[in-house]
Amino acid sequence: MEINEQIKKETDPIYQKVSKVIPEIEWAFHAPLIHKINILKKQKNAVVLAHNYQTPEIFHAVADIAADSLALAVEAEKTNADIIILCGVHFMAETAKLMNPNKKVLLPDMGAGCSLASSITGKDVRMLKEKYPGVPVVTYVNTSAEVKAESDICCTSANAVRVVESLGTDKVIFLPDQYMAKYVQTKTKVQIISWVGTCIVHEKFSAQEIKDIKKQNPGIKVLTHPECPPEVIAASDFTGSTSGMSNYVKKNQPKKVMLVTECSMSDNVQVDNPNVRFIRPCNLCPHMKRISLQKILECLEKETNEILIPEIIIKKAQKAVERMVAVGRSH
Ligand code: 13P
Ligand code: SF4
Repeated sequence: MEINEQIKKETDPIYQKVSKVIPEIEWAFHAPLIHKINILKKQKNAVVLAHNYQTPEIFHAVADIAADSLALAVEAEKTNADIIILCGVHFMAETAKLMNPNKKVLLPDMGAGCSLASSITGKDVRMLKEKYPGVPVVTYVNTSAEVKAESDICCTSANAVRVVESLGTDKVIFLPDQYMAKYVQTKTKVQIISWVGTCIVHEKFSAQEIKDIKKQNPGIKVLTHPECPPEVIAASDFTGSTSGMSNYVKKNQPKKVMLVTECSMSDNVQVDNPNVRFIRPCNLCPHMKRISLQKILECLEKETNEILIPEIIIKKAQKAVERMVAVGRSH
């Protein structure tokens, strides 16, 4: 695609912002798509909600809101747009639909799944409820709507401890991430009964890797996501949701930082924090990386890949996500 003067005029200011993380040769392909998407968004009254793991050309050039999964759910509820394009994975698009069922929610690639969401089914949750009668079920949002429908309340990495403690019980079933469950257990006296799911991105990091990086980079701040294994979290300086990590960098401006999470996070946070040096061993999420500008444009043009959830599931799952949003974010 050729960049004409009009496209150049409109996209050059964006490129100046992201030039440190996107090579100019790549921008020549992105610019015409960005231009088209931004025009079409206005014409169709569509909003683009993007997760922090989306690539910088999506995060910085077409997203109206770019945030962690809790904020994306809140924004989906608040929006006045007719169409929500969710740039992230399937469970995030389903959550947007649950928060605002009258909107048309589109996911640019229906194959964008999540290893945590696929680790558990509604039937598994019913089996656990039978095994632990009366124990409330707290479900991480990284699950299908069907699993949420079997749950008492949802949580994200930004409010897991707060949600667990909000129930006032001495025991909870916490699904499906075994590492997140272990992390929450270190922060609360409530007994946590967990499942066996893991995130294929965060489980790959090791404590040895963190120790080596710290040795090679004295003074570096290492930030982890709570989906990391316990020994990785223990070797780090701060643990939080994707937006929690981003806010830490913004507030503390460390000289050097390592974000122990998906690769695009460092690129996205780097753009707004030019004086911070990012040390980048990272892992790619193959699901998040299915979303591209080309697919966003196609999905917006044709209004394909609509998220549809049976009414009965919506009614039950909605209660669990709305309860989560009412609890709010941990401080
Ligand atoms: P956040 O809720 O922290 O944005 O994380 C979502 C996710 O999928 C992390 O792997
Ligand atoms: Fe799921 Fe992990 Fe990808 Fe997040 S990074 S969407 S938890 S597979």
